Amino acid sequence: MVSSKKPRRVFVASAWPYANGPLHLGHAASLIGADVLARYHRLKGDQVLFVSGSDCYGTPITLEALGRGVDPSTIAEQYHTEFCASFDALSFSFDLYTKTTTSEHQKTVQDIFSTLHKKGLVYTKVDKALYSPALQRFLPDRFVEGVCPHCGYTDARGDQCDECGKLLDPLSLRDPRVNPKMFPGQVPSSDFALEVRESEHFYLKLSAFQGDLENHLAATGGGWRVQARRFTEGFLQQGLHDRAITRDTDWGVPIPVDGYADKRLYVWFEAVLGYLSAAQHYTQREGDVDGWKQWFFSDDVVHYYVHGKDNVPFHSIILPAILMGAGDYHLPDRIFSSEYLLLEGKQFSTSRGHAVWVSDFLKHFDSELLRYAMIAQGPETSDVDFRWVAFGQMVNGELIGTFGNLVNRICAFTRKNFPDGVSFSGAVGDSAKQLLIATEKAFSSVGTHIEAGEFRQGFREILRVAEVANRFAHTQEPWKHLDDMQRVHTDVSVLLHTISMLSLLIQPFLPKTSTAIQGFFGPDTVGSDAGVSHTPLGWRYFELPKTFVLRDVVPLFAKVEDAAIQAQLEQLGVV
Ligand code: MF3
Ligand code: ZN
Repeated sequence: MVSSKKPRRVFVASAWPYANGPLHLGHAASLIGADVLARYHRLKGDQVLFVSGSDCYGTPITLEALGRGVDPSTIAEQYHTEFCASFDALSFSFDLYTKTTTSEHQKTVQDIFSTLHKKGLVYTKVDKALYSPALQRFLPDRFVEGVCPHCGYTDARGDQCDECGKLLDPLSLRDPRVNPKMFPGQVPSSDFALEVRESEHFYLKLSAFQGDLENHLAATGGGWRVQARRFTEGFLQQGLHDRAITRDTDWGVPIPVDGYADKRLYVWFEAVLGYLSAAQHYTQREGDVDGWKQWFFSDDVVHYYVHGKDNVPFHSIILPAILMGAGDYHLPDRIFSSEYLLLEGKQFSTSRGHAVWVSDFLKHFDSELLRYAMIAQGPETSDVDFRWVAFGQMVNGELIGTFGNLVNRICAFTRKNFPDGVSFSGAVGDSAKQLLIATEKAFSSVGTHIEAGEFRQGFREILRVAEVANRFAHTQEPWKHLDDMQRVHTDVSVLLHTISMLSLLIQPFLPKTSTAIQGFFGPDTVGSDAGVSHTPLGWRYFELPKTFVLRDVVPLFAKVEDAAIQAQLEQLGVV
């Protein structure tokens, strides 16, 4: 199945987490698919560029900074460093993980903005906004409090009412006032009053892209996750309105037009351009200044975008509109957005401490278990409730029971009974053939699922092969036939071959596990056709080698103990 075509380019782009709080399992659940895609396509021989970074601007970060009395850049740097460590620990194989505060990013964003401005696709408009005379600044979103126009709740925030949940515009609040929590000790209550003033902002002419975006959806939407497509359809049906892309703040990318020093580009306008700036940054760093063009000005490339569902319109509407407006840039081909991960029946909440932080998880459990849990039970098409007890049962029952035990039992058995190796003589029986066929077929079925963003099902197929192998071992019982050399060598060879192929199939999902399994096999065994030894082999089925010589075998996974699960439940306060 080796193709003679030149390697295809595959651009994999996962969402840039806000640098205003640590990563939790919900982030991992929505982003892990990107790493599966990148690893799979690399194994297939495609040329992959996998980028992301920390989203360092925007209100959430200025709020966190205000709360702590430090500069926003301090907060952003701290979380950026943490994110790098967490993604590393989770074996995310980014080609570049950067951040929005780099000069490279700023230049890209400003260039695109200027291009759109020159073409009239970005224009200025004067609009009403709330202004605080005491603070001498405009106050957007959560900086404002007031009475909810829908339910009368007196402490509604400018962006949303916590009582009735409705999304709000600060101007719709009755009796709007300064939200003092945002300015601790800075404003006496006698100075909370706000007035309506006119403020000039830049708008993106989204309405100009209605038809082109409809065409883009029609052309590519079939390859998106269903809810990303539906959401985008709904958005387009309502008709697109121009949107303000600047804000009254000093934390963000400066507007490259004179006279707007007290405003910045809206975080979403610039953050989505991180994919482009990261590609440019990457190829520049590799010494090929124009290299990025092959990723963004070519039809011979596939772009995958992976994120949570609240990010959909920014990737399916805003980003394509910006890119279309700015030039002939390659647009997102496949949008894989996730539903939400719940925790013990409730939404993750940073403020209430109802969360599982990636860094905490990794103090108690192996990173492969986190990847496994987020993939095998990922919230791909519906919300998924992460429950600690179920997590322990799945790891012990399925990952260890079905997969780990197969690998460990067969490899340890071989090592012990055949220290010089097993040699395969030729013919195999029907059930062995079936196992080998199932193994070979998995390369195409798992690959198809991965390319469709169906990571759960892809992983399921791998477990199915392990189940077939377990059944084969159970029926053949090589340990009872040590006196029948021909039979035992053949059966064990077939099982070992399946295991070595499983080490390839599982590589995109559980890379450390893959490496561990390959470490059990001596040189010249796995994938020994054409004299290749057992180093990473690609996404294809190999012919059965003649001899398998195993090295020392260690358990792939440690069992999750009840006490460890109990401790997690207690920490969450749900026991
Ligand atoms: N920071 C945003 C979030 O966490 C995601 C930004 S994705 C990008 O929801 F496209 F803007 F990069
Ligand atoms: Zn309300």
